[in-house]
Amino acid sequence: MTFYPPEPFRIKVTESIRLIPPEDREKALKEAGYNLFAVKAEDIYIDLLTDSGTGAMSQEQWAAIMRGDESYAGARSFVRLKAAVEDIFGFKFFVPTHQGRAAENILATCLVKPGNDVPSNMHFDTTDANIRARGGRPINLVIDEAFDPGNPHPFKGNLDISKLNGFIKEVGAANIPLGMVTVTNNAGGGQPVSMKNLKAIADVYNFFRIPFFIDAARYAENCYFIKVREPGYEHKSIKEIAQEMFALSDGMTMSAKKDAIVNIGGLLCMNDEKLFENVKNELILREGFPTYGGLAGRDLDAMAVGLYEGLAEDYLAYRLGQTAYLAGRLNDAGISTIQPAGGHAVYLDASAFLPHIPQSEFPGQALCVELFREGAIRGVEIGSVMFAHEDMNTGQMEYPKLELLRLAIPRRTYTQSHMDYVADTLRRIKQRATFVPGYKFTHAPELLRHFTARFEPL
Ligand code: F0G
Repeated sequence: MTFYPPEPFRIKVTESIRLIPPEDREKALKEAGYNLFAVKAEDIYIDLLTDSGTGAMSQEQWAAIMRGDESYAGARSFVRLKAAVEDIFGFKFFVPTHQGRAAENILATCLVKPGNDVPSNMHFDTTDANIRARGGRPINLVIDEAFDPGNPHPFKGNLDISKLNGFIKEVGAANIPLGMVTVTNNAGGGQPVSMKNLKAIADVYNFFRIPFFIDAARYAENCYFIKVREPGYEHKSIKEIAQEMFALSDGMTMSAKKDAIVNIGGLLCMNDEKLFENVKNELILREGFPTYGGLAGRDLDAMAVGLYEGLAEDYLAYRLGQTAYLAGRLNDAGISTIQPAGGHAVYLDASAFLPHIPQSEFPGQALCVELFREGAIRGVEIGSVMFAHEDMNTGQMEYPKLELLRLAIPRRTYTQSHMDYVADTLRRIKQRATFVPGYKFTHAPELLRHFTARFEPL
């Protein structure tokens, strides 16, 4: 029996959810062209589409919102956020942004020139797209274990140091305006990066004088994994581990919608003063004045409080325990998930669940549809709908290595019985898995098609 850590909070405000009847689910699916992005949120019972901006804020955060100072410049809210950012991350300069991708956009605009390369363990898709938008090439150099779903490596988000060295020597350090690492590695299953690996990455980037930026969306979850999995860190606080992590780098981008537990917000931090001047100019063009950066004063205050709540050990033990509990219940029912369980999400191996559906018929999408049909639950396909593309030279279809369904768990939002409901729903689908159909496109735009594609069952 998998352990479920009791929630370190009680519930004071509720939001009603309702389970619509099977015939209404069928109708909703048809109307949405079997794409869960097009289903109305009110028709979803348990929404595991993303953990981004979907968490529940605490009473302290709501109280902080009432204290928001909406002054255009130099607001008290900014002063409070600045104190928290300096305390936890320790960078010399920072700006708030409206969310993570805005920080990525500004950083890429300031640093990336056409033809440049930007290595990482794995770039999240908005980082990837922002580098490409400036004519750069995002390069993923995660360790090979990341592509083996059953491999229980404790730090499957690690960047392969020999691949990194080889890559820099091949293209030349002068062609690499910055190097990155994503903690935890969302695109690779929410897997953590070890402190040992972070130190080795920093050594390589430093040696070649390449500025080192961390994509810190889920840094606190990564720090908790370090505490419980990496020898020497068991007695350190999460904040101490975070401080050690960021001291290795030259800056960071962060979507505060994850580990800062707010509904909107982001950060861009750096030590280089000249870069900061350029960042401020871009920020004023695209986001707003440097003391509010695309957010309301109240949003800055909610973030200042949420940054500390995201570091609390009882919260993190519950958070990662909840994810591991759901994965454990699924594994007990013979359902394969990426091992070990990630921080923010459980990733189901859709090819193993639906072995009769070839990649060309979208097994991840098929499982996503079935989850809504059976239990009005929404997950997200991370497989061929998102990534398969035609090779420009050969005209052949190229498919991703893994066909996954991600169940991302919003923070402090669902309880153990919700997790049990998800596990029981999947167990029922497994019993009739051989009858689940594959899908074909009826409408498939070139760009970001997973948002707007329409399908038909085969
Ligand atoms: N970096 C990582 C690792 C992310 O997971 C995300 C967003 C971003 C950057 C971009 O941040 O959304 O605030 O602009 N991930 C969400 C998800 C969308 O569902 O995983 P943003």
